[in-house]
Amino acid sequence: MRGGVFPELLRTAGESGDIMKFCIIGYPVRHSISPRLYNEYFKRAGMNHSYGMEEIPPESFDTEIRRILEEYDGFNATIPHKERVMRYVEPSEDAQRIKAVNCVFRGKGYNTDWVGVVKSLEGVEVKEPVVVVGAGGAARAVIYALLQMGVKDIWVVNRTIERAKALDFPVKIFSLDQLDEVVKKAKSLFNTTSVGMKGEKLTVSEASLKGLYLVYDVVYFETPLVSDAKRLGVEHVVKGNLMFYYQAMENLKIWGIYDERSFKEVFEEVLR
Ligand code: ATR
Repeated sequence: MRGGVFPELLRTAGESGDIMKFCIIGYPVRHSISPRLYNEYFKRAGMNHSYGMEEIPPESFDTEIRRILEEYDGFNATIPHKERVMRYVEPSEDAQRIKAVNCVFRGKGYNTDWVGVVKSLEGVEVKEPVVVVGAGGAARAVIYALLQMGVKDIWVVNRTIERAKALDFPVKIFSLDQLDEVVKKAKSLFNTTSVGMKGEKLTVSEASLKGLYLVYDVVYFETPLVSDAKRLGVEHVVKGNLMFYYQAMENLKIWGIYDERSFKEVFEEVLR
């Protein structure tokens, strides 16, 4: 992974004098911290680019996306648009496998979520079996990342079993009521759902959690799962802010405007 995943796209920050426009599209998107982060970064790096916010309801997506593609040099897509963007851009191979695009630059679509997962796990052994909770876009990025890392024994647990069965990856499928039972037999647990964002808990007993070596949550603030895992002494506990950090780094590399020092200063301060 070192050296970046998209080396062909790596340009030195500031090499091109263009002032570029970026944004995040989603629905809802008001809670997003991306505009503040990227604009702060541009300021710190002495760049004149801008990063805005476009709240696009699903029913107007097909018309609005054309405007976005014309108006902006690059953008990030978040829930619920990561899948639909695919049809309007030229997706990378990774994005095609994951069936989701979260980063666009001048008509090309990328998935940087999976890169964020891999980089956030540098130096951590992902012991198997691995349980992945969820089967949506975030789950597909996590599963793809795990497969790229050579992890083989992946058990997916999802509320809607049909959705898990539709995943195009070599994984075993379980229903949500089997969660505790499978976590008991596993070594690593990844939560890719929004469960925990409002303080809710996954139905995993403390005894099962305690037996884990790694707990990973894509939610970027501390969920009950993360705090319980820490309290119970799980050796590696990773929060989604780290995935977000590396995903953002990868976006800036794709856009050709990555400045390591400014990035580390701004993103470490804000995402801590
Ligand atoms: P994302 O792109 O963030 O993955 P998504 O595609 O909407 O978003 O997927 C959300 C995932 O979280 C799904 O696996 C969803 O389960 P379903 O397939 O049954 O909908 C899961 N999820 C969301 N809320 C949940 C809840 N309260 N309990 C259990 N699973 C939940």
